[in-house]
Amino acid sequence: MPSPRLLVLFGSQTGTAEDVAERLGREARRRRLDCRVQALDSYPVVNLINEPLVVFVCATTGQGDPPDNMKSFWRFLFRKNLLPASLCQVAFAVVGLGDSSYAKFNFVAKKLHRRLLQLGGTALLPVCLGDDQHELGPDGAIDPWLHSLWEKVLGLHPVPPGLGVIPPGVPLPSKFTLQFVQEASGPCLSEQHAAQADPPSPPSERRPFLAPMVTNQRVTGPSHFQDVRLIEFDISDSGISFVAGDVVLIPPENTALHVQLFCQALGLDPDQHFTLQPREPGAARPARLPQPCSVRHLVARHLDIAGVPRRSFFELLACLSPHALEREKLLEFSSAAGQEALHQYCSRPRRTALEVLCDFPHTAAAIPPDYLLDLIPPIRPRAFSIASSLLVLVAVVQYQTRLKEPRRGLCSSWLASLDPGQGPVRVPLWVRPGALSFPQEPSTPVIMVGPGTGVAPFRAAVQERVARGQTGNLLFFGCRWRDQDFYWEAEWRELEKRGCLTLVTAFSREQERKVYVQHRLRERGPLVWELLDHQGACFFLAGNAKDMPAAVSEALVSVFREEGGLSDPEAAAYLAQLQRTLRFQTETWA
Ligand code: 2AM
Repeated sequence: MPSPRLLVLFGSQTGTAEDVAERLGREARRRRLDCRVQALDSYPVVNLINEPLVVFVCATTGQGDPPDNMKSFWRFLFRKNLLPASLCQVAFAVVGLGDSSYAKFNFVAKKLHRRLLQLGGTALLPVCLGDDQHELGPDGAIDPWLHSLWEKVLGLHPVPPGLGVIPPGVPLPSKFTLQFVQEASGPCLSEQHAAQADPPSPPSERRPFLAPMVTNQRVTGPSHFQDVRLIEFDISDSGISFVAGDVVLIPPENTALHVQLFCQALGLDPDQHFTLQPREPGAARPARLPQPCSVRHLVARHLDIAGVPRRSFFELLACLSPHALEREKLLEFSSAAGQEALHQYCSRPRRTALEVLCDFPHTAAAIPPDYLLDLIPPIRPRAFSIASSLLVLVAVVQYQTRLKEPRRGLCSSWLASLDPGQGPVRVPLWVRPGALSFPQEPSTPVIMVGPGTGVAPFRAAVQERVARGQTGNLLFFGCRWRDQDFYWEAEWRELEKRGCLTLVTAFSREQERKVYVQHRLRERGPLVWELLDHQGACFFLAGNAKDMPAAVSEALVSVFREEGGLSDPEAAAYLAQLQRTLRFQTETWA
């Protein structure tokens, strides 16, 4: 009897859920199961009723929302007219990826599990709750859960006799085959992103808009340690529209030097062209990859060679290595017992895939090009807050970025290196909704807390609201020094003068003791309570995810106690109620 098809569907925002789904796919193939791994929104959901075995891998984002690539599936699944027994043929299991420091921990996975049961599906296992806070990361929960999953699945569908499980040292077939072709005559259209003439629909990941960069300006003072940029793009005729709270997505490029080193290590000619064929008929090719494509384009724009590789990278390298010593080390890094050594070698110093390949030269030189896309994950587009409002500043997107140390900030450092003063610069981008959505009702006030670059989405919101005549704009802004990182001071002052904005500042380093936005929030307790409790205000928080969000929530709860006379549990319940009704929204980043 042929093995039943195992379908793995994922909803992934940052790539972790996709990575887990891919791992599931590999483990299934080793067990001789016919397995397909797909993003939820690229799967025709009406076919679900005919699937015997489905594993869902879903992240939870923002305020308990599903990731972007499962939003249509989500809407469909919760339609009221679906029959209760629709999924009675389907055996399923759900893996969630979340962070237990958020109120709605793994909300999407739990809700999905309940809904699938409601529609008549049979759960193979209880939902798996992957947690970023676990000392081993999401794998802490996923490893034992997968063990049980394979026991269940193999109990139902044993490995065919005579075949056996494919052992870890043997490579699985690559997902794609790469066929080198005659050099294309000049760069092909799609390689140039092709999206310029009369775009039929708004730009997207598949069809980014190549936006001319207008300015790229450092907005922190010369003595500030951070290089924060305000970048403007011309988006006229792009078909892009957006509202305050939306974010712009930009896929970064690897540097020319990294591309050259990578090609040298693998013995690839960057100027060669190839076409890519999926091994499984019907499987999707990566978005944004032209056909035919040059090796240079693939490495510069698609392969995340500057990312820190995961364990699966070492597993595959070990399978492909022809060199006994290197193979031994790679096998150690891929084994369960070698995880501490791998952490010390790779994750802790944030060693990149390119650096690892240079450390294993015999292995790198022997990698068959077919395996490139199995080995190295795609470059992820990065999201940045849009800091301007289309209502006011037509055709120009401005967004703000904080440059991190070069090891982490592939996108930021690449963007900072682009100088439109030296000649035309174009950057592929598209726009999607962010976690913040501002109230449309004219009379609803907003309280915004945005220290540092967290203020960027609030600049767009204030511009939009002022243009619409919406009053009741209270902004808490925090930075180190008023003359070094007080973004848009002149604009805020002007709006204050016109009576459109109340600005409260916290300069953390201008006095002996640190003063932060949460201290100012407490001081302004009576006003905050009045706006929230009597005028139905919405509260927004954006910025660095480390300690600030929890400290601001704590300050808010203390305002509820002191100004509203609430007890501890009542104040906590008040905040929870604001969250549930989307009157408390946050957008934070690491
Ligand atoms: P600091 O760097 O002086 O500690 C923007 O980065 C502003 O946020 C800076 O003034 C920074 O102060 C401040 N900041 C740092 N940690 C914070 C926290 N836990 N809560 C609120 N603001 C914080």
